[in-house]
Amino acid sequence: MRIFITGVSSGIGNALVKCLIIRGHEVWGIARRLDALEKLAKEVDSPAFNFDCCDITDAVANERLRTKMVSQKYVPDVVILNAAVDIEDAYPGLDFDHATQMMRTNVDGANFWVTAFIETFFQRDAGQFIAVSSIFAHWPDPASVSYSSSKAALSMLFRGLRIRYRKTNLQFKLLYLGPVDTPINPRFEGKESSGSLILASAPNTADYIANLIASKRSSSYYPLYIYGIFLFLRWLPDNWFELITSRFKR
Ligand SMILES: NC(=O)c1ccc[n+]([C@@H]2O[C@H](COP(=O)([O-])OP(=O)(O)OC[C@H]3O[C@@H](n4cnc5c(N)ncnc54)[C@H](OP(=O)(O)O)[C@@H]3O)[C@@H](O)[C@H]2O)c1
Repeated sequence: MRIFITGVSSGIGNALVKCLIIRGHEVWGIARRLDALEKLAKEVDSPAFNFDCCDITDAVANERLRTKMVSQKYVPDVVILNAAVDIEDAYPGLDFDHATQMMRTNVDGANFWVTAFIETFFQRDAGQFIAVSSIFAHWPDPASVSYSSSKAALSMLFRGLRIRYRKTNLQFKLLYLGPVDTPINPRFEGKESSGSLILASAPNTADYIANLIASKRSSSYYPLYIYGIFLFLRWLPDNWFELITSRFKR
């Protein structure tokens, strides 16, 4: 399959490229850091991996890449919206620049790449989008309020698209992740190997996402205990949820 992924220079996206190439897929990945992309290309060492530097908050860069894809007649089978930033809020106060950066990356950047392919998917009545969301789409994260609101917005976008395209074969899959050992959160990075029971590793998470491509499920939770939390605690008021989970978070 042809798979387009945003945010492949580190963490889950990076592990996902390796996993998908080993499984025989063709991957086109993007991120901002050229050095990290070149290092990844060297590691996978395969003509099936193509990459571009693209800041998905930059409308001109997005459009330039889209034009390049059109000129190469590139249409993916799967689009994985994985790129995101999670910046802690300074307290007291709320940093407007950080908040807009999270919204522009996690919501607008993802939205652009849906709009880039959705009409072609519709015309051929095939194609799937996978949004990497977070358990924080269901509950607020007081340490980064805009991160949780961005993931809630991304998830709602997908839920709306599912209904709009329900009579087609287009798929809009949502993956709600719990904590994964990656650079996105300095409190998690490097902790999985030291025996944390709640943290998943990036390679295991990548493997789970790769399996989702063949799955019919439209919403998934990983690691699995996250589904238990969602199932049993989703009716809890925010304050209670925070009381129970705060020591596992930041
Ligand atoms: N790790 C967790 O605990 C956790 C929990 C729940 C959900 N998630 C979700 O999992 C996904 C992957 O995150 P991760 O944990 O693997 O974090 P990560 O290692 O920080 O990866 C984020 C990726 O997004 C890219 N990115 C950020 N801003 C970008 C922009 N403006 N344009 C293009 N690419 C951009 C980064 O590359 P550049 O910096 O090179 O651009 C990087 O490759 C995210 O959607 C995140 O919200 C993670």
